[in-house]
Amino acid sequence: MNLAQVSLPFVKRLPPELAHALTLSGLKSGLAGPRQDPSRWQTSITLKKSGLKLFNPVGLAAGFDKNAEVGAVLTKMGFGFVECGTVTPKPQSGNPKPRVFRLPQERAVINRLGFNNKGLSTVAENLKSQTQRANGPIGANVGANKDSADFVADYELGLQSVLPIVDYVTMNISSPNTPGLRDLHARDALKDLLSRTEAVWSASKAQKPVFLKLAPDLDGDAITAITDELAASGTWLAGLIISNTTVSRPHGLRGGFAQEAGGLSGRPLAALSLEMLQHFAAEFSDTFDLIACGGVDSGEAAYQRIRAGAQAIQLYTALTYRGLDLIADINSDLRLRLSRDGFQTVADAVGVDLPSSR
Ligand code: FNR
Repeated sequence: MNLAQVSLPFVKRLPPELAHALTLSGLKSGLAGPRQDPSRWQTSITLKKSGLKLFNPVGLAAGFDKNAEVGAVLTKMGFGFVECGTVTPKPQSGNPKPRVFRLPQERAVINRLGFNNKGLSTVAENLKSQTQRANGPIGANVGANKDSADFVADYELGLQSVLPIVDYVTMNISSPNTPGLRDLHARDALKDLLSRTEAVWSASKAQKPVFLKLAPDLDGDAITAITDELAASGTWLAGLIISNTTVSRPHGLRGGFAQEAGGLSGRPLAALSLEMLQHFAAEFSDTFDLIACGGVDSGEAAYQRIRAGAQAIQLYTALTYRGLDLIADINSDLRLRLSRDGFQTVADAVGVDLPSSR
């Protein structure tokens, strides 16, 4: 049985969180269908700074597998890499339900889950078993508890516990659903975060690649401050994930839930997320591995992000609308586009649209 084809129309009619829980159960129980063979797609890439080796550049973004229960099976079903989490030091139940809303006309979702997860000790154990069985890199996305007195201390704890286990770690400072978390984008707060987490990373025997996941809702001053701090932060960071969900609501956004509070993801996020990628790629495409995330739902969109400077992409919302067939679709379309434009590999196309490459 192929989960993507058989159950998706049914699952899509259920309330979003129930649909998600059922999908996770299906994946855990092996109903998920045959393994695809990513080597056919000829879209492998080794990320320059982190050295992460991907069979293909299409990864699963954080939030789908918050407790690291199905990451390995998803790498076997075609994802080039899977990011588990967000995990916080202590378990958390998140915000009151309902807290996830579909905007089907827009191929979008609004969520205000608020880092519901089973906490570091359980998730770290789960991550061990996922990494042992995976067919590609497994990352852990770490965050802070809502009631934490010191957010940065939570990232230190997260790094300490998952660095020895996973293939890479992402520090998520960009969820809009934990009040105050996005303040870590501000100059002094970011400086403090980067210096304290660098100390943890340097002291660790497992110096795995660490990524920073940014918000798309940054004005010019915020971008300048982040750019300065990243430039000053030395060479330890591996890369940036651009971006998380947006708190903005594009004009004319359709759907009864369009004004619900929370982070908007999917198609309406694409332009903003691309714009943010372009800002940071202009500065850092040679320094950091850039992973594009936000509204990628086709080979065309993935190719555009790669040409803009991303070495890989992540997605979540499009998966809920299209199912797992989407991964093969994106990769085959990407391969066609690469060969049409005379590129041998994905790496050859990275950043060709950067102003400096023209
Ligand atoms: C998310 N996202 C997210 N990101 C993160 O860093 N930690 C998390 O726990 C979550 N949780 C989460 C739940 C749900 C239901 C959604 C839809 C999204 C954000 C996600 O990883 C991604 O950055 C954005 O959704 C943009 O990508 P897409 O969905 O437009 O492909």
